[in-house]
Amino acid sequence: MKVLVTGGTGYIGSHTSVVLLEQNYEVVIVDNLCNSKEMVVDRIQAITGKRPVFYRCDLRDEARLEEIFRAERPDAVIHFAGLKAVGESPKVPLKYYDNNLSSTLTLLRVMEAFGVRNLVFSSSATVYGDRATPPLREDAPLVFSATNPYGFTKIMIEQILTDYCKANPSFNAVLLRYFNPVGAHESGTMGEDPSGIPNNLAPYITQTLVGKREKLHIFGNDYPTPDGTCIRDYIHVMDLAKGHMAAIGLFERGGCGLKVYNLGTGHGFSVLEVVNAFSRAAGKPVPYVIDGRREGDLPESYADCEKAYREMGWKAEKTLDDMCRDALRWQEKNPNGYAE
Ligand code: NAD
Ligand code: UFG
Repeated sequence: MKVLVTGGTGYIGSHTSVVLLEQNYEVVIVDNLCNSKEMVVDRIQAITGKRPVFYRCDLRDEARLEEIFRAERPDAVIHFAGLKAVGESPKVPLKYYDNNLSSTLTLLRVMEAFGVRNLVFSSSATVYGDRATPPLREDAPLVFSATNPYGFTKIMIEQILTDYCKANPSFNAVLLRYFNPVGAHESGTMGEDPSGIPNNLAPYITQTLVGKREKLHIFGNDYPTPDGTCIRDYIHVMDLAKGHMAAIGLFERGGCGLKVYNLGTGHGFSVLEVVNAFSRAAGKPVPYVIDGRREGDLPESYADCEKAYREMGWKAEKTLDDMCRDALRWQEKNPNGYAE
């Protein structure tokens, strides 16, 4: 089976491409490199011994995307491409709506034109908003409410795909709601490479541990949680990658219509627990200070992952210690990420 991976040089797309190639899928990556480097293709090849086909292309360029589909004739698409910086999105909302929504609409039109009927979409736990109580289940009623334009693009794309599946009963769409991806490929040659100051917890900690940042700022320790810091469901990026292969398996078993799955571990860890796990992995303490709360953070978010196991046979296997060890190995081997 040939899988076209949009955003395949990005953090989650690159790890998923490795898993797909190792399982003998053909992989075609389409990415405009707005948040990744072409060098990632070499790293994927170094790990798997196989080189994915790579096209530098903005998904909104419909004519070029058609050319790619004409040349490649993929059987399925995994759609990772999108802008994802939660904090940036309220400052440049049009950029987020245009990039994320227009890319998806263009992709769907081209898939329709070429009769490609299998799509996996990168959604997010952010669609649960702040009204549902953890463990979060896929059938929780979704309120059309997000705290930022990025979150709204995920809600809107889920709705677009829901409507599209209703109108096209032979179309298969698997919406994967990721919780908090962390970690890196165990080789230490591929990982997360945020540009500028990291927004997310794990890369901020690893950059602190290699001396690129002075100390971690913990955003609030007065939440109604056991140690006062926020709780999240951290999932190893390689487990997440395997979740996408499980979704492709649904297509191979004859189609599934519209499906929605959480990808998490089902366990929540507090910020302080994550800090302690990284300290264990590094063999030295993570320097930190407690700051005020960050706007928009929920006290607690973790998944109910039973549905993904029941229907796809997938569950996360790696521990928090695995995530910290692998994230740190990547950072130590590549202190400047994929910098040339
Ligand atoms: P990433 O930024 O590393 O990868 C996204 C890739 O998409 C980048 O390589 C970027 O260059 C590319 N891209 C963006 N817009 C494009 C366009 N118009 N045309 C072509 N390529 C384009 O991000 P990631 O962490 O790998 O996330 C992948 C997906 O998962 C995103 O949709 C993101 O919103 C979603 N997600 C991520 C997280 C997370 O914490 N990392 C959590 C939930 C959901
Ligand atoms: N945190 C800190 N200091 C930091 C960074 C984060 O204390 O420097 C804390 C946050 O306050 C939060 C926790 O660490 O309590 C996790 O924060 P992240 O930014 O790593 O992750 P979020 O849960 O805020 O965001 C993630 C994804 C988003 C997605 C969101 C909701 O990054 O894409 O989950 O699903 F929208």
